[in-house]
Amino acid sequence: MDEKFGILFDDDFQQELKEKFFYADYDPEHGERLFFDNSGGSLRLKKCVKVKAEYEAFPDCPERIHARSVHLKGLVEKGTKEILEIIFGAKSGALITELTASQTMFQMVGMIMENVGGTNAVVSSIEHPSAFDAIEYYCNKTGKEMRVVPANQKTGGIDVEEVIKCVDKNTTLLSIMSASNISGNIMNIKEIVKRAREIKPDLYIISDMVQHAPHCGIDVEDLGLDGANIAPYKFFGVRGCGFAYVSDRVIKFPHHKLLAKPQETFELGTSAPANFAAMMEIINYVCEIGEHFIGKKSRKETYDEGMRRIHLQERALLYRMLEGTPEVKGLRYIDGVTVHVDTDDLTQRDLIVAMSIDGADLTETVAEYQRRGVTVYERVNTSIYSKRIVEALGLTGAIRVSPLHCHGKEDIDKFLKITAQMAKE
Ligand SMILES: Cc1ncc(COP(=O)(O)O)c(C=O)c1O
Repeated sequence: MDEKFGILFDDDFQQELKEKFFYADYDPEHGERLFFDNSGGSLRLKKCVKVKAEYEAFPDCPERIHARSVHLKGLVEKGTKEILEIIFGAKSGALITELTASQTMFQMVGMIMENVGGTNAVVSSIEHPSAFDAIEYYCNKTGKEMRVVPANQKTGGIDVEEVIKCVDKNTTLLSIMSASNISGNIMNIKEIVKRAREIKPDLYIISDMVQHAPHCGIDVEDLGLDGANIAPYKFFGVRGCGFAYVSDRVIKFPHHKLLAKPQETFELGTSAPANFAAMMEIINYVCEIGEHFIGKKSRKETYDEGMRRIHLQERALLYRMLEGTPEVKGLRYIDGVTVHVDTDDLTQRDLIVAMSIDGADLTETVAEYQRRGVTVYERVNTSIYSKRIVEALGLTGAIRVSPLHCHGKEDIDKFLKITAQMAKE
């Protein structure tokens, strides 16, 4: 088996996994559909939604000493530890909790920009607005120069060399996303960190992991990051919370907290145990996948194997979507279809395809897909949210197709057949 092209789950296992998600194949009011917009918010694990509702039912303050409160407080403590150690791979540091991933990003950037010397900050041109705008906001506030790394318009990613050109001894903060939420390109964060710290050994470096974390294992220790964030609603989980890891040296900076609380506490006010219970269900689910392949091992080992298998399954689905089969043409071969920022090496890509049907209006194409039972999304330069990013990639727009690991071969083939039909008409 060549991992370069991914490894599919066997059909029974894939089906078993899909059944653990709500509405994977249909919308309860609008009928059958393929949900291929997981980068905009992923399919939800039934167990996440269930525990979230279960724990919301209890009125108990987690700060009391009776059994229910102790249990709720325990959930927050265990959840915090597991998110840090198992999802982020952190051996130290702390967890920032907010309502959204964007808020955690602004908080991380603010703490570093307001407390570290230097005259400039570096960010990539294809960041989500939360990372890009946070750098711009704090550059304006602290009087620093903002440096923007151009994208590689062929790969849809950010090249290490281009990042390095922007970094110098006076750089306060470097912020580069781990994977693009438009091209799916995975950045070489490890090399970026290594090379950037050759220029400034104590450089603060953070990464937006909202796109990448649900599709591939992450390890902030191995990468040497000072901050990284995730959004549970893009990670099979629930809305209403965002989490970020911050390193020990970031914790030391002054930050919003109650004075009586320890320095590593970022939570302001009463926490929501239900959100932590939902996060632990995500971890349980990924561990179940890992256990299917390597049997019972430590929770961290099975989680890591689960993420590895998710990544391989998604790579195999990506390969099938691009290359097709002898029976069904892949996107690369359908007349009238263009795949944008396409690269041969699928090991550097998450399961996202940016494509278009030649001559067709993108918004109308998305609506037509929906009429044929496929939910996808368009990123266009007429949208204020997408303009900078699509133009940095040399595009005016593209349709983003983002299935999930629980999808199977038949789902991809169905999408390809619908696409071929639309391109022909
Ligand atoms: C790459 C990336 N970063 C950050 C965010 C922001 O996440 P949130 O909506 O939780 O603030 C998104 C959401 O679209 C994203 O795709």
